[in-house]
Amino acid sequence: MIESNLHFRVLQNKLTAELPKYLDIANTELEFGWPLDVPQPEDWIVVDMQHMMRMLVARMSAKIFMGYPACRNLEWLNLSIDFSIDMFTTAFMLRMFPPWTHSFVAHLVPSRYRVKRNLRKAQKIIGPLMDKHRDVLKRRAEGEQVEEDDTLLNWMMDNGNEKENELSEMATRQSILTLASIHTTSMGTANLLFDLCAHPEWFPVLREEIEEIEKDLGKLGEHEGIGAKQWLPRLEKMDSFFVESQRFNPPILLAPQRLAVVPITLKDGTHIPAGTRLACANADILDHSLPDPEIFDPMRSYRKRHESGEMNKHQAGQTEKENLHFGYGKQACPGRHFAVGEIKMILTRLLMEFEFKYPEGKSRPRNFYADENVFPDPRARLLMRKRRIPCDKCGRTDP
Ligand code: HEM
Repeated sequence: MIESNLHFRVLQNKLTAELPKYLDIANTELEFGWPLDVPQPEDWIVVDMQHMMRMLVARMSAKIFMGYPACRNLEWLNLSIDFSIDMFTTAFMLRMFPPWTHSFVAHLVPSRYRVKRNLRKAQKIIGPLMDKHRDVLKRRAEGEQVEEDDTLLNWMMDNGNEKENELSEMATRQSILTLASIHTTSMGTANLLFDLCAHPEWFPVLREEIEEIEKDLGKLGEHEGIGAKQWLPRLEKMDSFFVESQRFNPPILLAPQRLAVVPITLKDGTHIPAGTRLACANADILDHSLPDPEIFDPMRSYRKRHESGEMNKHQAGQTEKENLHFGYGKQACPGRHFAVGEIKMILTRLLMEFEFKYPEGKSRPRNFYADENVFPDPRARLLMRKRRIPCDKCGRTDP
């Protein structure tokens, strides 16, 4: 990551540039994973939503990065989830010791061995995909018509230099991309659900919004003709709910983080020498342009958009000085628009098909902190059952 920014370029120049196409591709994998990862209980059962979300997001990410059949490879899906956990565990462990001890302490950290083992596994999975793409390129150069998935891996190979195309480099970079994309997005989805269960009066509002769109376009997610571009931007209330949920549960407390490569003097005279590490306390920035910033108000950004008439602003994934949870400026998260699309796709299906609530005596789980990283209590559970829609005639909701 220090030597090359291929992971950034592919997200900015390919994924975001062709966002609706990749969201539709990801949606096909959501369809595939749904019956495998999401139970269909007629009555309330206890579920680990965080795990369920990780699996669905891992599938969607694998589909756009690696294509079929790698996205169905359980070894890769598990690796893409475990890699981040082992990587962060290793970093936390090492941070407890002074840097000069790292070269020998590292040998005593078990998660570091798992990281290394997973990087070797990643090479075994990615190597054949790279060979296949090279073969396609060769055959095309010879005039043959050859079809292949339009994956981000292929784009990275076509646009990477010799070093970036080395198998070990590429496997590491793909693993790093899973680190950036899976837990952040799945946590955002789970947090939104936790907040909805803590404020259940918003379930009907978000469902009504989806139903309105379905009235116009047809059933979402099951109708091949309806592209993400047509329906995702219309989920304005869900969008606003996510912004508020993220405001209360940012995945990181210090974003953006930067390194001053040259000395700078700011307008107010503050001098920042070269080599200084800078970070913004994003979680502590309260938006004082609206009243009661300490209150959970899910339509905050919805109202802001409509009242100001700035319909292209105050949306999830847009970085503003009052909202730095996706970073800021040219280096802001390059996967954020895709992440917001994924979250909306998953939430839409969950809300239309299921009901959720907390188990008796439980409420919104508290967040845990590890250095600047934030995550909801991993033991948090929800109750879930297939949605019961009241009968038009008698009002009963039996299955
Ligand atoms: C809700 C989900 C997500 C959140 C909250 C999030 C948050 C962030 C933040 C705060 C940064 C640092 C930005 C800065 O320094 O200004 C970042 C960077 C990054 N994000 Fe995300 N992200 C999410 C999803 C994704 C997804 C889905 C992808 C990939 C498809 C992705 C790929 C990346 C990459 C590669 C970087 C590093 C860019 C660099 O090297 O400068 N992120 N993200």
